[in-house]
Amino acid sequence: SDTLTVGQLAELMHKKSSDIIKFLFMMGNMSTINTVLSDEDIEIICLEFGIEVEKEIVIEEDNIEEQIESMHEDESKMVSRPPIITIMGHVDHGKTTLLDTIRKTNVTSGEFGGITQHIGAYQVSVKGKKVTFLDTPGHEAFTAMRARGAQITDIVIIVVAADDGVMPQTKEAIDHAKAAGVPIVVAVNKIDKPGANIDRINSEMAENGVMPEEWGGETIFVPISAKTGEGVSDLLETVLLVAEMQELKANPDQLASGTVVEAKLDKGRGPVATLLVQRGTLKAGDSIVVGTCYGRIRKLTNDRGMEIKAAKPSMPVEIIGLNDVPRAGDVFMAYDTYKKAQEIASHRLEKQILKERNQTSAMSLEDLARKI
Ligand code: GTP
Ligand code: MG
Repeated sequence: SDTLTVGQLAELMHKKSSDIIKFLFMMGNMSTINTVLSDEDIEIICLEFGIEVEKEIVIEEDNIEEQIESMHEDESKMVSRPPIITIMGHVDHGKTTLLDTIRKTNVTSGEFGGITQHIGAYQVSVKGKKVTFLDTPGHEAFTAMRARGAQITDIVIIVVAADDGVMPQTKEAIDHAKAAGVPIVVAVNKIDKPGANIDRINSEMAENGVMPEEWGGETIFVPISAKTGEGVSDLLETVLLVAEMQELKANPDQLASGTVVEAKLDKGRGPVATLLVQRGTLKAGDSIVVGTCYGRIRKLTNDRGMEIKAAKPSMPVEIIGLNDVPRAGDVFMAYDTYKKAQEIASHRLEKQILKERNQTSAMSLEDLARKI
């Protein structure tokens, strides 16, 4: 970048020169309005004042949203993709039981690996159509994504136990779905239980802003028993119907990007991450960046524990080959070379260290001020 003085930078940032001089002084640097700033100084100042610096590589990797947006634009390459469904609801209302029932009846039992694998995200086939479900850890990713203003889910199924009613986490789930702006399907669960009261669920949900269709609202309520399986196929059909109206599409013919659903360190295999591919096709051997982690994918495994060569949009997949454990909710992106992935990750790491260093020095100065 061109050389900038304190005065020029202050003008660009619409800040007072004296504030920048004061900040630099606190960082241990004496300066005047005419002091020429180093790139590092500029970066630190921008971090301090909450302004993004635009260097070549930053433009390349920081505007993920923009990049993703530009990928969306090529309409001719868009093909329909399976819906991504998150199951939410209060503790013990039957989320896991529902998912188990769905998987048991919709995963062909003859398939290798059965349904024993747990990777936090599953794909099943309903009437010949693929549907992706996110399990409770998906909830975690969903929360992280929401905090960052992005989203992974297309539809939220809120499970409410008919013998218990709307509870705090039910309300939380409603808030999540509304914040994400995605349609809700309500599964009124445990209707096999003697204390089940479907009308009560209808009115309690309505009180919380989720109006049943039969009461003139927009939300479909499906009574089910996750335990006996009653109503579960109705629920799935409803979900498919809602998904069809969304006309969900993605371009599989590009480098992949998507979201980390969960990740852990495996003693034998190293960092293991469950990714949800949202755009493009992820292939074995691809180089990816997730946050400050990077690596070449050594192995792709599907939700049934089978090794696969590639994963298309909406497909959950477990990968190994990263240099570190990424965070749930982080965005991943594939790059055409390993070198590029490595460069981008190390640049981010540098930036993060700078930011932390900046926070540490600000902190110690506060301490100093307190002592004085
Ligand atoms: P957390 O993961 O702890 O939030 O709970 P969950 O929502 O996943 O509930 P889970 O599926 O573990 O079910 C909790 C209990 O309710 C279990 O004992 C289930 O067997 C029972 N249960 C779930 N669905 C039904 C149902 O439809 N009928 C009856 N009778 N019991 C159910
Ligand atoms: Mg559960």
